[in-house]
Amino acid sequence: MINIQNLTKHYSSVVAVDGINLDVREGEIFGFLGPNGAGKTTTIRMMAGLVKPTSGDVSINGWSIRSHPREVKQITGFIPDRPFIYGKLTGREFLHFIGSLYDLPASETENRSDQMFALFHMTDYCDELVESYSHGMKQRLVMASAFMHSPRVIIVDEPMVGLDPRGAKLVKKIFRQLADNGATIFMSTHTLEIAEEVCDRIGIIQNGQIVAVGTMKELKDKTGGEAKKLESIFFSLTGDEVMEEVIQALR
Ligand SMILES: Nc1ncnc2c1ncn2[C@@H]1O[C@H](COP(=O)(O)OP(=O)(O)OP(=O)(O)O)[C@@H](O)[C@H]1O
Ligand SMILES: [Mg+2]
Repeated sequence: MINIQNLTKHYSSVVAVDGINLDVREGEIFGFLGPNGAGKTTTIRMMAGLVKPTSGDVSINGWSIRSHPREVKQITGFIPDRPFIYGKLTGREFLHFIGSLYDLPASETENRSDQMFALFHMTDYCDELVESYSHGMKQRLVMASAFMHSPRVIIVDEPMVGLDPRGAKLVKKIFRQLADNGATIFMSTHTLEIAEEVCDRIGIIQNGQIVAVGTMKELKDKTGGEAKKLESIFFSLTGDEVMEEVIQALR
């Protein structure tokens, strides 16, 4: 469903993403992990059509983001790491605005907004101004807006940052339900427990390059095979021996 081919991004002398290749299957939740500055957001912004690759391409459902950005955007929901929402709109007005961007008929926008408010436990606040929302509520509203056009592919940059345990649990449950219904989810995260718990496969990026891809079991086998946690696999794959030793010593 998602096919990343030799994707590269240079910012003058900085190589943010360095020739990555990845395939994500339909109905899969793919976790994209890596240290700060590894190239996750840059990759995701290229997938969403917001940053132009220096070379390489991303296709989603067979459409290239370079040659068919409209087709890609019609079937993709993108949730950025630092979303912007207009504070002077109510939650409902914001979802209606998003519905109009996707040319949804008014009745569908209405129904879909109500469904989204129920799904994200926001019905009581949907007619309040967004500027009065807490950080977690704003985040849930942004997710709701990305689901308005029932995308088959969801690309999300650090969905759990700032969510309380209840919010994070709700989002995990929603992601699993969507994937079970055939949606493909590509998410970057720093929360290793979440990756371990919800992702079917995990890819680890470091210095713009993929250093490992696989299921938890495959990653464990790759790094020695014992009953390791993702945390320790992560540090051994990213070459952080000190952190790995600290983790082992604390066990
Ligand atoms: N607009 C830009 N201009 C110049 N350099 C950039 C730009 N965006 C990203 N970079 C650089 O590209 C590299 C990758 O950054 P990116 O934001 O993709 O990392 P990340 O994996 O998302 O990190 P984090 O975990 O901190 O979110 C970094 O060295 C960053 O400084
Ligand atoms: Mg980032």
